[in-house]
Amino acid sequence: MNKASNVELYKEATAYSPGGVHTSIRNVDPHLIFTKAEGAYMEDVEGNRFIDYQAAFGPFILGHNYPYVNNKVTETIARTDLFGVGTTDIEIELAKKICQHVPSSEQVLFCNSGSEATYHAIRLARAVTEKRKLIKFQGCYHGWHDYVARNMLSDWDKIGKRDPGSNGMLDEAVDNTLVCTFNDLQHVEETLIENNDEVAAIIVEPIPHNIGCILPEDGFLSGLKELCSKYGALLIFDEVITGFRHDIGGFQKIAGITPDLTTLGKAMANGYPMAAIAGKREYMSRFNTNPGGDVWFAGTYNGHAVGTAASLATIEMLENEPVHDHIFRLGDRMRKGIKEIHEVLGIDAFVAGFGSVWTTYFMNFRPKNYSDLQHNDGELYVRYRKKLIEKGIFKMPMNMKRNHISFSHTDREIDVTLEAMEDVLRELF
Ligand SMILES: Cc1ncc(COP(=O)(O)O)c(C=O)c1O
Repeated sequence: MNKASNVELYKEATAYSPGGVHTSIRNVDPHLIFTKAEGAYMEDVEGNRFIDYQAAFGPFILGHNYPYVNNKVTETIARTDLFGVGTTDIEIELAKKICQHVPSSEQVLFCNSGSEATYHAIRLARAVTEKRKLIKFQGCYHGWHDYVARNMLSDWDKIGKRDPGSNGMLDEAVDNTLVCTFNDLQHVEETLIENNDEVAAIIVEPIPHNIGCILPEDGFLSGLKELCSKYGALLIFDEVITGFRHDIGGFQKIAGITPDLTTLGKAMANGYPMAAIAGKREYMSRFNTNPGGDVWFAGTYNGHAVGTAASLATIEMLENEPVHDHIFRLGDRMRKGIKEIHEVLGIDAFVAGFGSVWTTYFMNFRPKNYSDLQHNDGELYVRYRKKLIEKGIFKMPMNMKRNHISFSHTDREIDVTLEAMEDVLRELF
């Protein structure tokens, strides 16, 4: 790969923006300057083409620049955009669809990012319960704001300890967020008891995809629901990744567990900025979009026609085309293919995944929480990914990151990827 232009442009980027990127963890090696994207592929300024499994951290369930979505967006913005007053026809249409599909969604409100959605959900839970504290799980990510930005990809010696994600966070926000171990109901109950009657909500990624793919054990999510009822807290499913990607009704539909509140984003609009908070009418009506509501909800760009139209188009595709059948089938093929390669080469690794999402942990058992991931060889995880990038397969070159398959990926891309993986693994082992 000739990196001259990528290198030069990256230098220029850093002159004008700190680090040359607009989200912290985009700064990885190799640093590529992307100029084109279509379907399952993305291309850098030097014309190197990659099969994309990074999928911008998950929004691309249909594929890049998906014509049905783009066409709906351009048709829609030819007649409408943003008003800052009243309601648009397409907001009504989209709200109806979300309430039709997502079990916990009796009512829904739109915003622009997953972080906004989790912020609003937590504020609402505090107002409803009149309590201050929040429980999150070690390794889970719910956005960049002070309520949740702690104990994400913690250093191993910080697991479960006080680990704010940033300087400048308010101590009060950090310390009112308690950290529990995923798949450990006893730890959650002990924490609820220790913080007697102070916990407003438990927020959880029903599958913690921010550390790859750790599946909830049988009874864990239903157990959280029971604990929330027992201790008077609200259950928030953060389905920013799992929503729409695993099922049009979110992972809650698959699991058969209905949380009090749900946050949505990413695959909801196939790459366009769009997010939502949904939940029980009794709670949602507390937002001051409802006359008399006492929980503030606002945003200049909320319900913008671009994201709203993109979301409508994405949901129409999910309703009318075998998107989930396709991406689940390819996900299964990918996992099976990787396991076969491991068997042939005698590699003791764990292939994790659900539906269209997968990752290989270089460890020899199924992890059930963040702590278990200490057994994953992180250095190898990143080296493997970098070598795949050299072969035109783009997976985020960072430890514990997951991969995504879209409706635009075909058996051909899976074959090419498996072949490249086999070559790289032969080299590495
Ligand atoms: C589960 C989850 N929640 C919330 C967020 C925050 O979403 P956004 O980056 O759109 O603010 C993310 C982002 O990766 C996420 O993965």
